[in-house]
Amino acid sequence: MSVRVPAKVNLQLSVGPIRDDGYHDLVNVFHAVSLFDQVTAQHAPRLEVRVKAAPYSRVAVDDVPVDEGNLAAKAARLVAARLGVEPGAAIRIRKAIPVAGGMAGGSADAAAALVACARLWDDRDRPVLTRDDLVELGAELGSDVPFAVLGGTAVGVGRGERLTSALTRGTFHWVFATADGGLSTPAVYAECDRLREIRGEAAAPPVVSEALMTALATGDAKGLGAALTNDLQAPALALRPSLERVLDAGHDFGAVGALVSGSGPTCAFLAETEEDAGDLAQALDGAGVARQILRAQGPVPGATVV
Ligand code: C5P
Repeated sequence: MSVRVPAKVNLQLSVGPIRDDGYHDLVNVFHAVSLFDQVTAQHAPRLEVRVKAAPYSRVAVDDVPVDEGNLAAKAARLVAARLGVEPGAAIRIRKAIPVAGGMAGGSADAAAALVACARLWDDRDRPVLTRDDLVELGAELGSDVPFAVLGGTAVGVGRGERLTSALTRGTFHWVFATADGGLSTPAVYAECDRLREIRGEAAAPPVVSEALMTALATGDAKGLGAALTNDLQAPALALRPSLERVLDAGHDFGAVGALVSGSGPTCAFLAETEEDAGDLAQALDGAGVARQILRAQGPVPGATVV
């Protein structure tokens, strides 16, 4: 069973007050882009996970755990428990999504493993676990996992796991600049809290940007570019000041929008047309500000059996 699963970029990431459980209340507008990991699951005596970089992807996979700590392994165990079967599967992950890059690569692999293992072990005509069930199970694994099952463009509230699909028109053209070394998501949220505290800023309850929703619904790339926001950008830049130069380069080369993707360190640039995206990618590549320059389009579907 082989499943293809996309990366995400956050179009709006508004971080609200910290909750009693340690998570932050969010408005998180997710957008799935055409940069895919592939996860395959085969029957095996026990659960094992192997991780490789996809051909030509140059993704650094050394830091991905292959023990029980791997999010795809946790997903497999969750599906097995729900179905009442033994978690016997060999899971192979081929990564093209940057590791710890702010594009939800680990969450994507977990979502793909949910779909792959559910299909592998629940092969009746009418499967016990529906896609909605898998979206729900995803929330137990991480805040971004339900979206990776669903894909498209969606507004997430709560800790980001309660999703509503957003209306979009057409295709948006993206360029991504990856960085050497990842950023830890909890560390970036902690830095966000720390910066707010020293600045005496209270976190306001987050609200969905109307300008963003209108730009999405009308397929207006310029409007979308102007409406992109990410409350984790300032803390990510504080932890990785070199990203400022990457964002500046994107602006200089004509991106209609530029921001840190999620908790970073990948930077995302929006181009007005496919041709502009090609020019932008070439210019950024030439500037040598990133580990790698990648192009992608969005929105694309979530975890899909191939
Ligand atoms: O849910 P997930 O395990 O992906 O979250 C990773 C980390 O990101 C959490 O441990 C927490 O530090 C931070 N987080 C948060 N508020 C959210 C989502 C994530 O503080 N809504």
